[in-house]
Amino acid sequence: FKAPIPVNEPVRSYSPGSADRANLKRALAEARESVTEIPQYIGSEQVFSGVRENVTMPHDHRHVLAHYHIGTEEDVRKAIDAALAKSSSWAAMSWEHRAAIFLKAADLIAGPYRYKLNAATMQGQSKNAYQAEIDSACELIDFLRFNVAFMTQIYADQPSSSPGCWNRMVYRPLEGFVFALTPFNFTAIAGNLPAAPALMGNVVVWKPAFSQLYAANLIMQIFREAGLPDGVINMILVDGPDAGKVIFEHESFAGLHFTGSTAVFREIWKTIGNNLPKYRSFPRIVGETGGKDFVLVHSSADPLPVAAALVRGAFEYQGQKCSAASRAYIPSDRWPDIRKEIVAMLKEVKMGPVEDFRNFVNAVIDERAFDKIAGYLSQAKEDGLEVLWGGNADKSTGYFVEPTVLVTKDPYYRTMVEEIFGPVLTVFVFEPSDFEQVISMVDRTSPYALTGALFCNDREVVAHAADRLSNAAGNFYINDKPTGAVVGQQPFGGARASGTNDKAGAMQNLLRWVSSRTIKETF
Ligand code: NAD
Ligand code: ALA
Repeated sequence: FKAPIPVNEPVRSYSPGSADRANLKRALAEARESVTEIPQYIGSEQVFSGVRENVTMPHDHRHVLAHYHIGTEEDVRKAIDAALAKSSSWAAMSWEHRAAIFLKAADLIAGPYRYKLNAATMQGQSKNAYQAEIDSACELIDFLRFNVAFMTQIYADQPSSSPGCWNRMVYRPLEGFVFALTPFNFTAIAGNLPAAPALMGNVVVWKPAFSQLYAANLIMQIFREAGLPDGVINMILVDGPDAGKVIFEHESFAGLHFTGSTAVFREIWKTIGNNLPKYRSFPRIVGETGGKDFVLVHSSADPLPVAAALVRGAFEYQGQKCSAASRAYIPSDRWPDIRKEIVAMLKEVKMGPVEDFRNFVNAVIDERAFDKIAGYLSQAKEDGLEVLWGGNADKSTGYFVEPTVLVTKDPYYRTMVEEIFGPVLTVFVFEPSDFEQVISMVDRTSPYALTGALFCNDREVVAHAADRLSNAAGNFYINDKPTGAVVGQQPFGGARASGTNDKAGAMQNLLRWVSSRTIKETF
């Protein structure tokens, strides 16, 4: 590496009595006392349109945290113009200076902004302190630092030369602007999607999810404080489809950095395809999308780690991780023990607002998500599935859905196939002798291929099953839960209906944001 060698940001525990916990509690209390006005960031302007919507807390939906100022299609045009006006000077800035800006942003998050950004993620997205810490602190810091190191590796990769002939490769940014379109569920993803192309010298228009805006606004402020020049990243607050009408018609649209649902990504890809003749270049399309992530258990597995992986994998952040365990295949000779452990663990799990640090489960993101998840639960009850745990939902004060374990006799029941994006785990119990057929079932039941886990203590079976499931998950875990990938250790991304598998926070991803120029010079 030519840049600092990155190390993963240590996760803080916020244990009772610690200074970290006191500071985080103070940040939470301060945020409750004021209402933030969130503008669009277009070039050097912060645009307060006066047309406002509320940002509320999912676990206390009457509490208004902020107002965001909605923009128009004209603002999208202005954001594109501001980005394009900056593109030559930003591309001409040396990589060291670009790197320094994002390294400083990482340090600002690791230091002075840590509690404030974690508090924003906790209150805006209803994450508990630990979930916020691993997301808006550690993962975002890691993305920013590791990207810088990977960038220097890319630039260092040069073709061979010979006497009288010097070959070289110049890694230029794309010609035009990149559109970053980000989801609600990870502050780290929201920050990384505009930052990664910008680091590689691109200019960006960024549209965050409105339900993640409270933290997204802080990220924008941190980038600016770190020295990011005006116009490099422009944040617009326009509905996705309306913004898309302007963005995807523009001749300088050069790339899409998307994370979100498969349905939206498909729709956007179609629009881009229809508009291809309008663009100066073929746009780069990077999309990380949905999942229906599995846990497959072999009879040789130990029950306790399986149960722990299921409870953490399915219910941390209310199952709203693209990587969340949502379908489990368990042999009947292990099920009684695993079932007992799951019930014992869930008895200890508390649900409620994020301000009470004992709550492991908080609220789901909004009413739309709540209604969708509650619909699956009522349907499952009507269809006669066994409800091993949970099954109830209440939105009177916050969008709370109990962590729910369903047991089905039908391995193709809809909760085994469709992405619910909530705290719902469905279990299919099989005869141990059917393990081979179940492997095929795991592979074929869902269109997705994001994450999956195999629990097994027999090495030959591990090798065999891992091979047969080689296309079923972009991130495959052996004897561990399928969530919690760490930047630089488990590059993250899925295939099939789960996306283009360009591995966020890895060299593969950064390579999508450069257009290389080969130069041959003879002497
Ligand atoms: P979403 O698809 O609803 O929204 C993503 C972004 O697209 C938002 O900013 C939204 O406003 C915008 N958008 C929605 N419709 C649009 C349209 N027609 N045109 C342009 N923009 C549009 O996703 P979400 O609910 O915010 O996030 C949850 C989804 O994201 C889940 O499916 C989850 O699996 C997926 N996800 C995947 C990964 C991954 O790495 N594979 C990571 C996180 C989330
Ligand atoms: N990177 C996140 C995880 O692995 C989505 O859980």
